Amino acid sequence: MKLIRAVREMQTACAEMKRAGRRVALVPTMGALHEGHVALMRRARDHGAAVAVSIYVNPTQFGPREDLHQYPRDLEADCALCGQEFVDVVFAPSDEEMYPSGTGADEAGFQTSTWVEELALTKRLEGNRRPGHFRGVCTVVAKLFNIVAPNVAVFGQKDFQQLKVIQRMAGDLCYPVEVVSVSTVRESDGLACSSRNRYLSPEARAQATVLWKALSTAQDLFNGGEHNTHRLETAMIRTLQLAPMSRLDYVEIANVETLEPAVEARRGDVALLAVHIGKTRLIDNLIL
Ligand code: PAJ
Repeated sequence: MKLIRAVREMQTACAEMKRAGRRVALVPTMGALHEGHVALMRRARDHGAAVAVSIYVNPTQFGPREDLHQYPRDLEADCALCGQEFVDVVFAPSDEEMYPSGTGADEAGFQTSTWVEELALTKRLEGNRRPGHFRGVCTVVAKLFNIVAPNVAVFGQKDFQQLKVIQRMAGDLCYPVEVVSVSTVRESDGLACSSRNRYLSPEARAQATVLWKALSTAQDLFNGGEHNTHRLETAMIRTLQLAPMSRLDYVEIANVETLEPAVEARRGDVALLAVHIGKTRLIDNLIL
């Protein structure tokens, strides 16, 4: 496995793989890799492609009061895991490589003079709670697409809105890339694997299962014939309240394509939630 830190070198390495007749699959990550990321790497491999994993904690997608500086970083362990998973190339650039026109750190972190922004799907939910977040995500993913020129890019359903935004961006900007999604990988008690789970104290970790319980409650009620979104959302909120450390950010049942709130819940709609457990903000979702 090759570790590459410079944009030009990565562009050359990926172009060479393609010239040699290989398809290239990209798995963008921010590192602190876990079983969810591993599932993405395996899916990338299933496409018969050379697998490139990017590991970059992208400053432009963090808000000024968010966890950019605390975000877990362990490149050595991440590379070891990528090696075990037969990843071909790990791309771990510096901020200077990724944001060459950065005018230095401002209040929000890093600057660039060129942004990529999706406007239809980013107003609500995470986009509403985290202003500028998706602009940072789209900008960095567009850069990665330009650097790697992948045939396939793999994203997790865990970040459902992000997946939809990237699919839309790739279509709108005519990237010749197939955006593939992978179901959420969970711990045995239902908690979705996340790099941010590392922040949870043992007590918070125990209570964090309430996210999955709330989603399962909605699923069970829906399967039992309850299609009223207000009642489904209320049942999720009640379940979340069972955990004393939990503080609700939002719960919502939305259309999977538009992400607009569902009036009446239908099969195939998505239940989404964001909840603070102590100081850690977690998100999860489930397709009904
Ligand atoms: P990160 O949080 O590291 O996630 C990288 C990818 O792994 C995303 O596509 C995410 O949806 C997926 N993922 C995370 N947890 C998962 C789980 N439990 N099951 C399945 N997939 C999971 O998302 C980002 O990084 C960044 O925003 C990025 C796209 C890399 C842009 O900076």
